[in-house]
Amino acid sequence: MRDKLIVGNWKMNGDLATNARLLGRLSTDWHATQGRALAVCVPAPYLAQARAALDGSDVAWGAQDVSEHRAGAYTGDVSASMVAEFGARYAIVGHSERRQLHGETDAIVSAKARAALAAGLTPIGCVGETLAERERGETDAVVARQLDALIEALGRDIARIVVAYEPVWAIGTGRTASAAQAQPVHAMLRSRLVRAGAGDVAVLYGGSVKANNAAALFAMPDIDGALVGGASLDADEFLMIGRA
Ligand code: PGA
Repeated sequence: MRDKLIVGNWKMNGDLATNARLLGRLSTDWHATQGRALAVCVPAPYLAQARAALDGSDVAWGAQDVSEHRAGAYTGDVSASMVAEFGARYAIVGHSERRQLHGETDAIVSAKARAALAAGLTPIGCVGETLAERERGETDAVVARQLDALIEALGRDIARIVVAYEPVWAIGTGRTASAAQAQPVHAMLRSRLVRAGAGDVAVLYGGSVKANNAAALFAMPDIDGALVGGASLDADEFLMIGRA
């Protein structure tokens, strides 16, 4: 059985005082149990705070995006090596909010994944269809295209990433894909990963994951954990998802 990974995505939320309480709770109350890992992806300005609070704990940390470039005239961007300097393990790449609000294409997302790997980070590559795409019956085609771009760009290194299936219509809406809706998409992603020689890659589910639906999702054979937005801002809720 593959290990489960539960990753919090704080998005653009937090402040020093609130973070201190949340990180403090995670660091004292989460103990690595066999086959379960917990991480939080924080806004870049809080990476130092995450490291100070979590170093030596069983909780890992990461960023929510990295530049596809190594360094240079890219005002406002943050490089993967900068993130890595703060002890981060993960970097989310290609979140649907980045794809939709910042025009990130499959090519850009792949370049970001490559930059993260080069800096020693594990990219969490997000894929997912919009509601309109689902209603047109295009879920598999869209999600497969997004994963295939990563497979093509990374070659054998595809085995070193984490994938997150996040149906866009389920993000922040309270509309979770049911375990029965998510599992077939995860199985399709898995079969492509197996064909690429990366069958052990963790495929997380994301989109309105809460303590009360996590167990059903985690019981599915191809769901290896969760990328958790809103519910990761509440220590009790997030810890319950971690233990679900
Ligand atoms: P949500 O967000 O859990 O708030 O739906 C998930 C995500 O966007 O990663």
